[in-house]
This record gives sequence, C-alpha cells and structure tokens, in this order.
Amino acid sequence: MIPRMGRDPRARRRADRAVGARSAALTGHRCTLRSAERAVGAHLAASSGHPTYGECPVSDVRRAPAARSARHDVQHLPGRRRTTCTSCPLRAPGRAASARSAHPRVSRMPRLLVTGGAGFIGSAFVRHAVAQPDTHVTVLDRLTYAATRESLADLPGDRVELVVGDVADPAAVDPLVEAADAVVHFAAESHNDNSLADPSPFVTTNLVGTFTLLESVRRHATRYHHISTDEVYGDLELDDPERFTEHTAYRPSSPYSATKAGSDLLVRAWVRSFGVEATISNCSNNYGPWQHVEKFIPRQITTLLDGGRAKVYGTGANVRDWIHVDDHSSAVWEILQRGRVGETYLVGADGEQDNLHVVRMLLAILGRDEGDLEMVADRAGHDLRYAIDPTKLRDELGWRPRFSDLEAGLRDTVEWYAAHEDWWRPAKAATEAAYAARGQ
Ligand SMILES: NC(=O)c1ccc[n+]([C@@H]2O[C@H](COP(=O)([O-])OP(=O)(O)OC[C@H]3O[C@@H](n4cnc5c(N)ncnc54)[C@H](O)[C@@H]3O)[C@@H](O)[C@H]2O)c1
Repeated sequence: MIPRMGRDPRARRRADRAVGARSAALTGHRCTLRSAERAVGAHLAASSGHPTYGECPVSDVRRAPAARSARHDVQHLPGRRRTTCTSCPLRAPGRAASARSAHPRVSRMPRLLVTGGAGFIGSAFVRHAVAQPDTHVTVLDRLTYAATRESLADLPGDRVELVVGDVADPAAVDPLVEAADAVVHFAAESHNDNSLADPSPFVTTNLVGTFTLLESVRRHATRYHHISTDEVYGDLELDDPERFTEHTAYRPSSPYSATKAGSDLLVRAWVRSFGVEATISNCSNNYGPWQHVEKFIPRQITTLLDGGRAKVYGTGANVRDWIHVDDHSSAVWEILQRGRVGETYLVGADGEQDNLHVVRMLLAILGRDEGDLEMVADRAGHDLRYAIDPTKLRDELGWRPRFSDLEAGLRDTVEWYAAHEDWWRPAKAATEAAYAARGQ
C-alpha cells in the first residue's frame, strides 16, 4: 500500500529518513553542495521535515553535470527518451509517495510536453524553455480561437514541434506523455466572460483535460507541473491589507475560476492518492505580447490604436495584480527545476493596480487624453481585488521578476501591438461585436 502523503508527519519523517539511509547505502557519498544551494537546502529541510538536506546523497542532482554523471548510473528507459538515475530511490518506480513529496527535485528536462503552448502564456514559456540548452519541446494544442501558430514560428524547428490535439483525448495525450520527461499544463479555456456565456468547454478542457493528463502522468510516472490562477481564491476587499498565500481557502466566483479550482484539487488528490510528482503554480494577471484581443489590456490597446475610447467595466475600481508574461515563464521554469513535489507556489510581481489606473497609463503612453474612456456594463460576479503574496517562491527558490516597472512593461506591450496589427486585426471586429452584444 502506498502511504498517504502528509497524513502522519512522524510516519512521513520516518519514511524520509529511511530513504536517506537507503540512498546513502546505494550511492556511498555525501553531498558537497555549493553554499547557496546549502542555504536553500537547509530552508527546505526545515520546512519539509526532510532530514539534513545538505547531507542527503539523493540531492546531488543539484550539482554540476560532471559530478552527477560520475555518481549516478543513467539509464535510457525502453520506449522513451527519459533518463533516470538508477541509484536514486526517489527516481525509482514504486517509491513511497511520502518520500517524494518532501524532497526537493532538480533535474534537467530535455524533453518537455507543453499543453496549450500555442496560446498566450504557453507560447511565452516555450520560448523561455527553448532558450535553455538542450531542451526539446512538444506542444500539444487544439488550436482554438485563442491559439496562434505565429507565436512559435521563429523557434528552431528541430527543437519545437506542434501536435494539434485535445488534452481531453487520452489517445492524443498518452503517447506524448510517454515520450516526455516532464509535462507543463497550460491548456485551458481562459476567459471569464466566455465562461459566463457558455461554461461547457471550460468543464471539458479545464477539468476533463486535467484529469486525462493526470491519468497519463500517473501511468508513466512523469513529472507534471500544473498552471493555475489566483482567481481560484475568489476576491479580496479593496481595502483589505491581506494578500493571497498558499494557505488561502478556495472560493472561486466564475465558471472559469471554478473549473481551474477543480483542476487544482484533482492535482492535489493525484499527488496524495497516487504519488504523482506534481507541482502547482497560481499566478496573477499576465500581460505582454501575443495575448488575444478579448483580454483587458490588449482590448484597450487595440481599441486605442484604432482611435476608439478605452472601455472600463463598472467604476474601474477593481484591482488586478499584473505580471509580465516572461516573468511568469521564468517562475514556472524555476518551479519545474527546483520546486518541491506536492507543493503549490504563488506567482506574482507586486503589480497591484486598479483598472482605471491601468487604462490611464495606456492613454498616457499612446498620447491620448485622460478622459478618452467610457464606463461599460460590469461583468456579472466581477471579482473586486486580486493580490498575490509571492514570498514562498522568492524565499524558497530565489525567483525575482525582471519587469518590476508596470509602466515600462506596458509601453513595450503597446509597441508590440502597434507593430503586430496584421496578427490581431482579424480577431478584433468579432471580439468587439461580442462585447457590444453584452453592452460592454
Ligand atoms: N491570462 C492570465 O492572466 C492567466 C493568469 C494566471 C493563470 N493563467 C492560466 O494560464 C494558462 C494559459 O492561459 P492563457 O492566458 O495563455 O490562455 P489562452 O486562452 O491564451 O491559451 C490557451 C491555449 O490552450 C489551448 N487549448 C484550449 N483548449 C484546449 C484543449 N482542449 N486541448 C488542447 N489545447 C487547448 C488553446 O488553443 C490556446 O492555445 C491557463 O491555464 C490559465 O488558466 C492565465
């Protein structure tokens, strides 16, 4: 029977100690981590209950490749390109879920399967991944209205391949998971307004799609990272000093956020019940290139570029916590490399701003009058405020955002949309017609 992760902390510590002892016997070495890694290790040991991380023989996967290959026997598994360390109990099939959950993992990820990699954030992550040495990415994407092949067009064809298919289709998913070292799951129906108009594709893609992937990574013992949103936590009052943390209770408001919350809970259950090696990240609102014109910032930019007036829901007081899409990508990369299995990390860049202020920044960047905006009908159930506390991600993994100046990031984004009219123009009229039909 697989012990249940976290049910009994003493049993978990015993299992961890047993793994450490077994591993020491197998590999016969003690780690000599660099000091920064030792500091992270000590922190992790304290927070996870893992005994003396700095002395753990398994943790030498953090070290330089030369040291790694000298210490570990690397095996190519039949039928897949994954390599696995045969000396390391945490990589061995059938190992205890409790042991995996507490141990920090670092490994190279030569073959990634990225679902939704032709969408806004997924494509940014693919560009980030391909910029790392030796990484090969397979994108699985259904190419819905939100996808764009152009976002991947400039990437090297021998390192990125696009497979058109549905994450809710086991026949499409399973062979790709089998061939991958890790799966990063971005694919989703992602627009709140659409979920209010028709929730059904949200249930299929966000819930059934995640279930399909989880069953496949469970079957093939493949590392899995789940992309989620801060919207699972519902909203905060405008004057609330609190921010969301990894311990905030789930309280989703819309069909979109409810299906994302449900998918997160599936991941947690598959970690605990089946020992799936998964991490979850919940990120705040993203902006940057290749975002569909239906979303708040591209909609404002493209409307203003067209000479129209910006559109603000309700009073414009709703607060979002903005992060540049490239910072989201670097955070996901860090979690994939060094995040602790079974853990959730919140991703944010201290970018809280109310919608009216963001629109005024865009008006100023485009040289328009501050009053060139109109208030439109509010979204049903519109969340008031999102705010992320990213302390865990920063302290544990040392991640920092590169774009700390929202105004500068917005300026870059405006320039990008101005230079890519041929890309967004075909979707603009239909998007605005749908908004107009809702009085927005
Ligand atoms: N946009 C944000 O601000 C934000 C913030 C936090 C988290 N997220 C999460 O990040 C992920 C990506 O969001 P995004 O804004 O890039 O979305 P997006 O709508 O731009 O892209 C989604 C991609 O998924 C693909 N897709 C949809 N259904 C599919 C299916 N059944 N099978 C295969 N592919 C399918 C689409 O074709 C598209 O390429 C989502 O999981 C979303 O919940 C988004």
